[in-house]
Amino acid sequence: MGSGTYVGVIYAYPQYKARIGRVISLEERIHECVERSLNGKALPPQSAAMKAIQVYISWLSQHVSPPAELTWLRFPALSLKAQPDTNHGARLFERSCAGCHGADGHGTEMAPPLWGPHFFNIASGLARVSQAAAFIKGNMPITQPGTFSDADTFDIAAFVNSHPRPDYPPKMLDYPKGGKPTDVPY
Ligand code: HEC
Repeated sequence: MGSGTYVGVIYAYPQYKARIGRVISLEERIHECVERSLNGKALPPQSAAMKAIQVYISWLSQHVSPPAELTWLRFPALSLKAQPDTNHGARLFERSCAGCHGADGHGTEMAPPLWGPHFFNIASGLARVSQAAAFIKGNMPITQPGTFSDADTFDIAAFVNSHPRPDYPPKMLDYPKGGKPTDVPY
């Protein structure tokens, strides 16, 4: 729950995505992760790597029989603060996150970068403060997830997302039918 697990994901697609404005396949969702969350280049559609990822996700779902709703796939919603305090978030980050992710947020041998040129771009889910907060609440610090209050988690997420990220020019085509969440940073 709240970890962004692949277990059951095979049954969650095809799925309507407001960001794209139509129903997308699992393969298209994987492309989105590669291009947005990893800020990488799309894998060729029929490539061995794309097939291997799909087979792996399918294998991880082998003990799940498809229920009506795969409730554990979504990040649980947190109670959103009207205005997160990024200065407070910075202090909490320095105390509880910088040891692994680096004081400059660019990552260390222990943990990936959280901002800067080598990480998720502006059009990824985690670039939205609500999504980053929900992920952090459920998973970080990796040794003690869930130790921060919702309010503190929002402050940390707002601080993390106050830094520049790589751009994603095709973002201009996102949400073609509306429904753009208010915390999408473009
Ligand atoms: C003990 C080391 C450690 C600490 C402390 C820690 N993290 Fe992490 N964090 C990790 C590791 C390792 C990963 C990669 C996990 C993975 O890929 O499965 C990670 C992943 C993340 C990610 C997702 C990055 C991605 O690649 O998708 C975010 C966001 C994050 N951490 C935020 C935080 C925040 C905010 C804090 C402080 C509240 C924090 N972390 C504290 C080790 C740590």
